[in-house]
Amino acid sequence: MTAIPGLAARDGALRLIGAVLDRGAMLDESAVRGDAATRAEARGLADLTLRRLGQIEAILGQFVERMPAGHAANVLRLMTAELVFAGTAPHAAVDLAVRLAKRGKSGGRIGGLINAVGRRVAEKGGAIAEGQDAARLNTPDWLWSALRADWGEAAAHAIAEAHLTPAPHDLTLAAPGDAEPLAREIGARLLPTGTVRLDGRAQISALPGYEAGAWWAQDAAAALPARLILEPDGKRILDLCAAPGGKTMQLAAAGAQVTALDRSERRMKRLAQNLTRTGLTAESVTADALAWEPDAPFDAILLDAPCSATGTIRRHPDPMRRRGGLDIAPLTELQARMLDHAAKWLVPGGVLVFCTCSLLRAEGEDQANAFLERHPAFARIAVGVDEVPGAFVNSTGDLRTRPDHWPDLGGLDGFFAARFTRQ
Ligand SMILES: C[S@@+](CC[C@H](N)C(=O)[O-])C[C@H]1O[C@@H](n2cnc3c(N)ncnc32)[C@H](O)[C@@H]1O
Repeated sequence: MTAIPGLAARDGALRLIGAVLDRGAMLDESAVRGDAATRAEARGLADLTLRRLGQIEAILGQFVERMPAGHAANVLRLMTAELVFAGTAPHAAVDLAVRLAKRGKSGGRIGGLINAVGRRVAEKGGAIAEGQDAARLNTPDWLWSALRADWGEAAAHAIAEAHLTPAPHDLTLAAPGDAEPLAREIGARLLPTGTVRLDGRAQISALPGYEAGAWWAQDAAAALPARLILEPDGKRILDLCAAPGGKTMQLAAAGAQVTALDRSERRMKRLAQNLTRTGLTAESVTADALAWEPDAPFDAILLDAPCSATGTIRRHPDPMRRRGGLDIAPLTELQARMLDHAAKWLVPGGVLVFCTCSLLRAEGEDQANAFLERHPAFARIAVGVDEVPGAFVNSTGDLRTRPDHWPDLGGLDGFFAARFTRQ
């Protein structure tokens, strides 16, 4: 039997969409069968469907009286994403959707509905989408309320707007001086903070310097917190919650003696692979940060705590589609406990950097302030505008980036970082 072009990728996309929407799992393209190109296409289509889900539901709401459940609903969603946002030829998008619908429980019975809805969406979907408030519609209520409460209506809208576009590929170099020639070689941009940014699609592992380990993928915002550790060269530094090792590699490349600790065995394997590829060294510890004790205190500690990951929605839209919203309390509690542990492991005069890839103040600004209240022996060392662009430093001297920052350069992830010293 000859394979129908595009069918395998759509089948994979549906598996991914179903995993996220129906089972609350993460987008994981390794769950897709097929070659790398099929997996990448499936991932791209699933990503688009999840990113634009609010608009898609609103469009379908105009043409479907009673939305079917499960697989059939996801076929309609994927088809609409293709027709309205991906520019897929209507006959191809509808034909593939009908074929895929047949694989579900409702089998062929749903084919008529898909055909009829597909025709109408192809005809009217584009015009409907143009009149929609895409930023608001594609942001679930729980996230919209949180963003509005923390940043105000206009900024919440700007952030949500930035979430509509997938993040570019950002690279951090082991030798920062080589960034400019690399950017020139691969036709990328050199950002003011030293990150090399490649727009559009790219197979990262095929780029020059990957095999040699000259660089690693890391968002421009994620590259900033490790740089707040003052003079890392030769220092004993604990990277707490380290895997897969982006910040460990930065510190090791800067000459630090790094201990990288993370609880996840799977993620620590990736950290080990990253260190091998880049030829960098760190002591690896797989342990629960709350149960572990070091033999001796550290000169500096970087705590990149687990969080809502609301700062990385441009890169990973799936957590936004979590059913039931977000229960922030267990996360902020864990972050506070980790901070309290880290505070005990620092030499006097040492530096502690706390960071999260969160857009929520509860996991950033509020957490840092509460830490200082609990620990009078600690004081903030304000982040200087000579260290990071001034727009990323807030009124208390912490680092705060948002996806709507750097609009002309393609934005960056949402990150918070505060730097403390033990007096
Ligand atoms: C934001 S990620 C770290 C990213 C990493 N710092 C980097 O730059 O590549 C948070 C990490 O916290 C780890 N983690 C969560 N709970 C932990 C715990 N109790 N002890 C140690 N690590 C934990 C997770 O496994 C995850 O790898």
